[in-house]
Amino acid sequence: MGCENYELFISCSLERGRSFRMELINVKLKKSRNDSYGIYVGQGAMEHLGLITEAYKDADRYVVISDSIVNPLYGDIVREKLQQATLPVDTVEIPAGEKSKSMATVVEVVSQLIALNASRKSLLVALGGGVVGDLTGFVASIFKRGIPYVQIATSLVAQVDSSVGGKTGVDTTEGKNLLGTFYQPKAVFIDPSFLDTLSERDFKNGLAEIIKYGIIADEDLFELLCENTAGIIQRKPNLMKTLIEHSCKIKAEIVEKDEKEGDLRRILNFGHTVGHALEATSDYRLSHGEAVAIGIVAATKISHKLEYLDETLCKNIISLVEQYGLPISIPRDFDTQKILDYMASDKKVVGRHLHFVLIDGIGKPFVTPDVPRNRIREIVDELKSW
Ligand SMILES: NC(=O)c1ccc[n+]([C@@H]2O[C@H](COP(=O)([O-])OP(=O)(O)OC[C@H]3O[C@@H](n4cnc5c(N)ncnc54)[C@H](O)[C@@H]3O)[C@@H](O)[C@H]2O)c1
Ligand SMILES: [Zn+2]
Repeated sequence: MGCENYELFISCSLERGRSFRMELINVKLKKSRNDSYGIYVGQGAMEHLGLITEAYKDADRYVVISDSIVNPLYGDIVREKLQQATLPVDTVEIPAGEKSKSMATVVEVVSQLIALNASRKSLLVALGGGVVGDLTGFVASIFKRGIPYVQIATSLVAQVDSSVGGKTGVDTTEGKNLLGTFYQPKAVFIDPSFLDTLSERDFKNGLAEIIKYGIIADEDLFELLCENTAGIIQRKPNLMKTLIEHSCKIKAEIVEKDEKEGDLRRILNFGHTVGHALEATSDYRLSHGEAVAIGIVAATKISHKLEYLDETLCKNIISLVEQYGLPISIPRDFDTQKILDYMASDKKVVGRHLHFVLIDGIGKPFVTPDVPRNRIREIVDELKSW
């Protein structure tokens, strides 16, 4: 066999035991794809679905992916809008809840897509919260090596957080979001009136993230949260629209500058270092938002103890979290050492240093590797004895 073909050169050389001559061939791939997309926020956002059906009029079908709670509530409204484009509209329904964010569900959804004759020309429509969004985005990124998808975000977490930024993925038995891709939707639609049917606990999960945005990035948002507690708790549509707009803009701006989780995107983890540890320590009995709320209190207190933040602002932040009915203390039966061990094993540890997002004012976050471990222990113990 001749070795004039470069691809065979190396194996031929190895087979014949000849000296090994190394060559380098560069594969130059210039990224020219435009991944920009629009987020439509407001009552009647569904009316804008027409923009997508217009843009994808050459699609062969639309497949709505939703869960067993959201599909019965809003599936028909969405299908009716999509049917105006006279293309087939199918639905794949998954059981509601985090358990569905799994490879087993991915395989099941893909089987159903194949049974529906979905192709590279099909458009997926994620209708639901963060679980449906993350799962649909993941399926879209791998089905036939990538097909387009849009998100209709129905939970507050999806409306202010998970639908922006293109992180998709599923959990494994070893942990959350361990398999995933960066894959952007073609558009996101957010109607605050979907929130009317959302449970109290899920609503508060979203509020915790909005409070985080106010603290790390936006004095106006922080004030809005301080001054309109009653209206926000009542989910007044205009207030909710404003909160969602502020939140999406903040996340979009950070993601635009740092699409793939570099240093800047880390500030979005404010409250999450302690938050993730509490969530895991509680075996997920604490919801993400509850754990993040306590994590926000912890990061705020550490910022104050290390003399970055004055006492008044520290107290204001903690009372804001409390006003929204979110927890501000760690349940007494939580094992401090377990919380600290979890933090040490978390991905935000670089070497022996625990990277923490702290603040030295509203809108002034910074990442530091310099938080002494005994300070963290002190704060965890303090938050348990409140
Ligand atoms: N991709 C990201 O950047 C990102 C960011 C944050 C969170 N997440 C992921 O998002 C998930 C959490 O999102 P979530 O809180 O939306 O969870 P979820 O999708 O499970 O929704 C919470 C519950 O609310 C229900 N629901 C949703 N909209 C409703 C509505 N309008 N009315 C009534 N019920 C409704 C759902 O059926 C579910 O039971 C987690 O898996 C998390 O990892 C991803
Ligand atoms: Zn979060």
